[in-house]
Amino acid sequence: MLNIKILTAKLRDIDAPLLASFIPEDTKQLSGQLSELDELLEGGVSKALSSEAFKGKLYSSFLLYTANKIKASYLLLTGLGPREELSAESFRIASGEAALRASSLGAKKYALYLDPSSMELGEQKVVEAVVEGAELALYTYTRYKSQSEKKNVEELILVSDRGDNIPQLKSVVEDTQKVCEGVKLARDLTNTPSSDLTPTLFAEEAKRIAEKAGLECVVFGLEEIKQLGMNGVLSVSRGSKEEPKVVILRYRGGKEDEKPIVLVGKGVTFDSGGISLKPSEKMEDMKYDKAGAAAVIATIYAAATLNLPLNIVAIAPLVENLPSGSAYKPGDVIRHYGGKTSEVISTDAEGRLILADVLAYAVDKEKPQAIIDLATLTGACVVALGSQASGLFGNDQVLIEKVKRAAEASGERVWQLPLWKEYSEQIKSDIADIKNSGGRAAGAITAAAFLSNFVGTTPWVHLDIAGTAYTAEDGTRVKTYTPKGATGVGVRLLIKLLKDWGSTSS
Ligand code: BES
Ligand code: MN
Ligand code: ZN
Repeated sequence: MLNIKILTAKLRDIDAPLLASFIPEDTKQLSGQLSELDELLEGGVSKALSSEAFKGKLYSSFLLYTANKIKASYLLLTGLGPREELSAESFRIASGEAALRASSLGAKKYALYLDPSSMELGEQKVVEAVVEGAELALYTYTRYKSQSEKKNVEELILVSDRGDNIPQLKSVVEDTQKVCEGVKLARDLTNTPSSDLTPTLFAEEAKRIAEKAGLECVVFGLEEIKQLGMNGVLSVSRGSKEEPKVVILRYRGGKEDEKPIVLVGKGVTFDSGGISLKPSEKMEDMKYDKAGAAAVIATIYAAATLNLPLNIVAIAPLVENLPSGSAYKPGDVIRHYGGKTSEVISTDAEGRLILADVLAYAVDKEKPQAIIDLATLTGACVVALGSQASGLFGNDQVLIEKVKRAAEASGERVWQLPLWKEYSEQIKSDIADIKNSGGRAAGAITAAAFLSNFVGTTPWVHLDIAGTAYTAEDGTRVKTYTPKGATGVGVRLLIKLLKDWGSTSS
């Protein structure tokens, strides 16, 4: 975590090797302290802006050497993109860019000027976005590196020209850092190789996380899972030597009699496809198939550190999907928790089978006011939306709209796809209630339709995060604040949703 300070100061006196400032695209006129700085630098800033070298485009930045004319050795101009398009996302990306430049310069600390002329969004929103951009851009997964390759940035100084709301901004910084700790936790869990985060090890980790945040933690092992009749979880895990687990974390921040919000996350610690084996190319990415579980566990952790006034339950079924002599097979029929049956067409459509049990269990035991599940569920969702949005499905448009608003505000975009009843035709089975594959057409939708059978009338949203849970070298543009690997998607969206829960009618 960065040491973040926020203060008012003269830019020329800032005692850091690097001072960065945000510049909207095609800026002609410098304002506030920037024009003063320009004078001190003998027109260096305005010259840079009028040259072809720097246009202020998002994702671009321009470094000036200050030759002892001000205290900081370097001034970084960081592009914000078009002024008309300024959003929190612009600041996240630009802040990430500045943080990465600071890191590659080897700066232990750097300063960022919050130019009043680009604060139309409001300083609080800007500070939140800037902190997210910096914290999340500087994340690296170092567990297996003998030596850290990155020079570590330790301190960030935010310079505001307004002294009056600094106490408020300080608490924004604090809260945002708590959320970012959640995102990083989700990334760490998701990035961990599957052999080092088996269902058993994942459940142990969840216990440690729960203790740290004062959450209640219950873990079902093989016997309890059998006894409860969670046969989807049982079936999928049967090919592996690793026993399945179901982790339940509980946070009680709301009134005692208030129904909880249940967050469910798919936790397939490795998805080989099972007997319906996947091709070996990119199979290593299937360690990320636990991203949903990681996100809900990290979210409830962050919610607890933020003391949100809600009752929240996070449930994650954890399994490893492998082929072997004891593996479940295509053609098998599974009786899920609650009694509904499904025919296995593909053992690679395992996510919905484990979620089915847990969703039915959550509805039965928790009587939730709402359920939101996150799952790296289908390749079809990646085909439909790529890495720019998670697929959104649900049975309650009011809840759906709430989730959409949180998605927009957090920059973790979602796109609603229909759940028309006609799609359910594709998953009718000859011998069971439903089957676990509806074929290639509308694959993300038929997967969601499968899940909808297990939530009854409880307001429910399903987010298919297969395309957004990790970024790879496949030509998709990596945002400055989402380094290669797990993104931790869902945590910021869910925290925003939970923070605003009471403020809109449900
Ligand atoms: N975990 C995969 C989905 C996935 C694919 C996640 C690519 C991330 C990137 C899921 O378990 C799966 O294999 N789904 C199948 C379903 C099909 C057999 C009906 C798929 O999408 O091909
Ligand atoms: Mn699969
Ligand atoms: Zn999977």
